[in-house]
Amino acid sequence: MSWAFVKGTYPPISFRELFGNDNPVEVEIGCGKGSFLVARAEENPGINFIGIDRVAKYMKRRKMRVEREEARNIQFIQAESRKFLEEALRPLSVSVFHMYFPDPWPKRRHRARRTFSEDFLKLIHSRLSPGGLFEVATDDLDYFTEMKKGIAATRELWDNVRETVNERIFGGTMKTNYEIKWAAEGRALYYAELAKGTKGS
Ligand SMILES: C[S@@+](CC[C@H](N)C(=O)[O-])C[C@H]1O[C@@H](n2cnc3c(N)ncnc32)[C@H](O)[C@@H]1O
Repeated sequence: MSWAFVKGTYPPISFRELFGNDNPVEVEIGCGKGSFLVARAEENPGINFIGIDRVAKYMKRRKMRVEREEARNIQFIQAESRKFLEEALRPLSVSVFHMYFPDPWPKRRHRARRTFSEDFLKLIHSRLSPGGLFEVATDDLDYFTEMKKGIAATRELWDNVRETVNERIFGGTMKTNYEIKWAAEGRALYYAELAKGTKGS
């Protein structure tokens, strides 16, 4: 791995240096323990995967396992998502962003801490390659309502938008840890998929 956080800034990542090839790259934002991404990486050797989470302990554990198992198409990086997208990821470079069950910060006074916003959506769009996808899910209806407002406000950026309840759009039967936990508790799960046009810039 030839990329590292340097004195408070994230240097731009060269995917070729990181993975040794030019395969498409998918990024999971707030990947937690990373099980979903590991499962996808095992099933898709022709795709590269980056999991980011701000919690160091998850990323350290996953990094050690990836190194032990010599998995070549997956990397875990401890990072704050907005800063990482702005500084480390180049425009038009990511084929799919996954963002599952971001912290909902339900208390009104904490809402500003939510990662998803209209601005964040624009940032995601700028980093997606043409034809790229953004997959997002939450169990928090209030957060989903806010997400839908952001989606409506940026609607002209997207070629297609799909929304479902209790029906995963992307990845078939592969689920994240929180997805399994919330589904077992019988919570409603809200999903959205945003597709960038093939001519998108
Ligand atoms: C509720 S957990 C969901 C984990 C995983 N996506 C899943 O579905 O099992 C939310 C995760 O997002 C991470 N997170 C929250 N804010 C973040 C941020 N600004 N940048 C990076 N990770 C963040 C948390 O550390 C946590 O691991």
